[in-house]
Amino acid sequence: MPRTQILGTGSYAPARVVTNQDLEQLVDTSDAWIRERTGIQERRQAAPDEATSDLAVQASRQALEMAGVAPEDVDLIVVGTVTADMPMPSCAALVQAKLGARKAFAFDVSAACAGALYALSVADQFVRTGQVKRALVVGADVLSRAVDWTDRNTCVLFGDGAGALVLGAGSDSEEDASSAGGPENVAPRGILSTHLRTDGTLADILCIPAGGSRTPVTSDNVDANLHKLKMNGKEVFRFAVRSLVESTQTSLGAHGMTPGQVDHVIAHQANLRILEAVLERLEIPREKCWLNLHKYGNTSSASLPMSLDEAWRAGRIKRGDVIAMMAIGAGMAWGSAVVRW
Ligand code: UT7
Repeated sequence: MPRTQILGTGSYAPARVVTNQDLEQLVDTSDAWIRERTGIQERRQAAPDEATSDLAVQASRQALEMAGVAPEDVDLIVVGTVTADMPMPSCAALVQAKLGARKAFAFDVSAACAGALYALSVADQFVRTGQVKRALVVGADVLSRAVDWTDRNTCVLFGDGAGALVLGAGSDSEEDASSAGGPENVAPRGILSTHLRTDGTLADILCIPAGGSRTPVTSDNVDANLHKLKMNGKEVFRFAVRSLVESTQTSLGAHGMTPGQVDHVIAHQANLRILEAVLERLEIPREKCWLNLHKYGNTSSASLPMSLDEAWRAGRIKRGDVIAMMAIGAGMAWGSAVVRW
C-alpha cells in the first residue's frame, strides 16, 4: 500500500508579541526565571477578533499553496484543537467553510498538545486506505483565551499559533533506492507509521475543569476560575520525558531503526528542558531538533506542524531524511511518528 506523503506545510503566528518583560508586569515572575526554566523568550497572542479557525485558515492556505492543491480538491480536513471557536460546530467545519473546501468532510480531534499528531495519524489512515486523496491536517490553538493570567505557573508558558500539513497518497514508485543502498533494498518514503497512546488516569494533571458537561460554565464557576487551564507542571514534566522517550523508541523500533538513524526531530515544544532530557536519553544531538519555543512558547497543537513547516522552509530537510516526530498533551495523550521525507 503506498505511503502517505506530506505535500505541503504552512504556519501562522499572530502579530502581537508578548515578551517575558510584558509578563513581569502581570504576575510575580522574571525574564531570567522563564528563560532558565522553560527556554521561552516571547510568545504570540491572537488579536481580540481572531479565533482559532482564523489562525488555522492562514496556515492552511500556505500549506495548500505549497502543495499546489486547490481548496476544492481537499477531501478531508482534520483539526487538532482544544480551543475551537465555539463548542459546536467543530473548528474544522469553520475552516472548511472559510477555505471554500466544498467537497471536504471535516472534524476536530481533541488531544491537546498532541492534537496535530493525532490528526496526522487519523488522516494518514484515510489516505492510505484510498478513502481520500487529499487531506488537510491542522494543529491550531488560541490558549491565551484559556490560561489564567493571574497564575504564573501557567500563563508564562503558552502562545497562540497554527500549523497545517497537506497529505496525499504517494505512488508505489515513491521509494528511495539511493538512501537504502540499491534497488534490491528500497526505502519507502512518506509517513512510515504513527504510534498513539493515552492515559486518562492522569486527566487531572492538565485540564480545564469547567465548560463541559461535568461542570458547566456558571457565574460561580467562572468566579472560581474553573474555566481556566490548571496544570501540575512537575508531574507533566516527568511524565512527558518518560513517555516521549518510550514512544520514540517504539516507533523507530517498529522499522528496525535506532535513534542514531534519525536526521531530524520535529517535536511538540513545551519546555526546552523536556526536549533536552528526551534528546539526551535517546542520544540524539540537540542540533537535530528544530527549536522555536523561544519565540512562540508552547503553542499546543500548533507547535509540531509549525516546527515542520519552519524546518522545511529553512531548507533543513532533504529528500530521504528520516524524521522522528513526537508530541504530548493533556489526557495524557502522546505519540510519535516516523517519516521518511
Ligand atoms: O504541552 C504540555 C503541557 N505542559 C508542559 O509540558 C509543562 C511541563 N512542566 C514544565 O514545563 C515545568 O514544570 C514548569 C515550567 C511549569 C515549572 O518548572 P519547574 O522547574 O518544574 O518549577 P516548579 O514547578 O518546581 O517551581 C519552582 C518554583 C516554585 O516556587 P517554590 O515553591 O519553590 O517557592 C514556583 O512557585 O518556581 C516558582 N514558579 C515561578 N517563579 C517565577 C513557578 N512559576 C514561576 C514563574 N516565575 N512563572
